[in-house]
Amino acid sequence: MKNRSSRLSGFATLSRDERIAALSDWLPEEMDAADILTETGALPGDLVERMVENAIGVMPVPLGVATNMIVDGEDVLVPMATEESSVIAAVGNAAKRCRATGGFRTSYAGSLTIAQVQILDVTDPNRARLEILRRFEEIRDLCNQVDPMLVELGGGLRDVEVRLLEGRHGTMVVVHLIVDTKDAMGANAVNTMAERIAPVLAGWTGGRSLLRILSNLADRRLTRAEAVWPATEVGGAAVVDTILEAADFAVVDPYRAATHNKGIMNGVSAVVLATGNDTRAIESGAHAYAAQSGHYGPLTRWEKTKNGDLAGSIEIPLSLGIVGGATRIHPVARLALAIMGTDSAEALSRCVAAVGLAQNFGAVRALATDGIQKGHMALHAQNIAIAAGAEGDEIMRIADAMKASGEINERAAKTLLAEIRT
Ligand code: MEV
Repeated sequence: MKNRSSRLSGFATLSRDERIAALSDWLPEEMDAADILTETGALPGDLVERMVENAIGVMPVPLGVATNMIVDGEDVLVPMATEESSVIAAVGNAAKRCRATGGFRTSYAGSLTIAQVQILDVTDPNRARLEILRRFEEIRDLCNQVDPMLVELGGGLRDVEVRLLEGRHGTMVVVHLIVDTKDAMGANAVNTMAERIAPVLAGWTGGRSLLRILSNLADRRLTRAEAVWPATEVGGAAVVDTILEAADFAVVDPYRAATHNKGIMNGVSAVVLATGNDTRAIESGAHAYAAQSGHYGPLTRWEKTKNGDLAGSIEIPLSLGIVGGATRIHPVARLALAIMGTDSAEALSRCVAAVGLAQNFGAVRALATDGIQKGHMALHAQNIAIAAGAEGDEIMRIADAMKASGEINERAAKTLLAEIRT
C-alpha cells in the first residue's frame, strides 16, 4: 500500500536525492524520478536548491535564437526559451521581412517602478493626501536610505503620488512611491522602501497601513517598438488589407484581443524567461495595461503607410532587469544576455518590445492568409510522432507521412509506427 499523504513532514530538510526518492510512492512503478531529475544540466544542483524551496530538479525548456533582428540600427540575436514550436521561426521570419526598411525602431520611457502603500481608517483623507505630498523630501530621504547602492547608481525615489480610492470599507489613501530602479527589475528595492515608509505615513495621517507592495502595472516603464513591412514582403497589397482587417478584430473584441496578445506574449515571455526575468510580472503588467482604458484591447496597432506598406507598433510595460535575481545567477540567463549584447535593462526592454511586435506580425499574417496550422504542424507533427513512441528516423518518416495525408494526430502516428515496425 502506497503512502499517499501530502503531509511530507521534514521534506524541506531532506537532501535533493532524498526528496527525489520520496517521490517513488507517487509514481508508477516503471517511472524512475532519479533518472529524469538528478542531472540538472546547465543549472547546477546547488543553485537549484538555493533558488526554490523543496527543489527536486529542473524543468528544461528549449532555448533557441531568433535571427535577422535589427533593433535601432543594430543587428541582434535574440535568445528565446519556449516549449511552443513556430514561435522562434516566426520572429526570425518577420524580422527578415522588415530588414530592408531598417528593422525595428524603439523608444523607452524609463525604469520607474511603482510601489503602493495602502492606508486605511484616515478620518480626513484629503488633508492626509496634502500632508504626504508636502513632506515629499522626507519620504525621499527615508526611502533612499533603504538602498544607498541604487542611489549611487543614479536611481532612487523620484516622485510620490497619492490617490484616494473609495473601497467598501471606507476611503483608502493609496500612496505610490515612484522609484527609478535603473537596471534592476526593482521589486526588492521598492518593496523594502514601501515597508520602511508605511508606518511613517500611517503616523502622519493617523491611519493604519496595510498592503505595501510594488504594482505590476508598470505604466512608467513603457517600451515602444515600430516597424514597416514593405507590401512586397507581406504578400502584396491585398494581404496588407486583410492583415488590417484581422488586426481590427482585436481592437473591437476582447475575446480576440486576448488571443492576439497571447501571441505577442509568446515572443515577449520567451525572451523574458531566457534572460531569467519574471514572466508573471511582465504578463500581468501587459494584460493590465491592455485593459487600462476600461476596454481590454490589443497591445499592437497596424496601419497602412501612404506607400501602401504595413506599419506596426507596440506599446508594452516591461519591468525587466539585468541585475539581481535569476538574471545574475542563472548561467543560461547570463549567456542569453551576453548573446544579445545587452548591457542595460533599457537595451533588453527595447529588444523584447521588438520581438513582441515581430511575433504579432507573424501570427496575424499567418492567420490572415494560410491559417496558423500549416506552419505550426511542421514541428508539431514530429512531437506527435515522438509522443506515439517513434524514435530516430521513424520520427521524420511518420511526421512526413502524417503531413502528406493531412491526418496529424496520435492515433494516426501510432498506426504508422506499427506499420513501419512490422
Ligand atoms: C498561438 O500560440 C498564438 C496565436 O493564437 C496568436 C494569434 O492568434 O494572434 C496564433
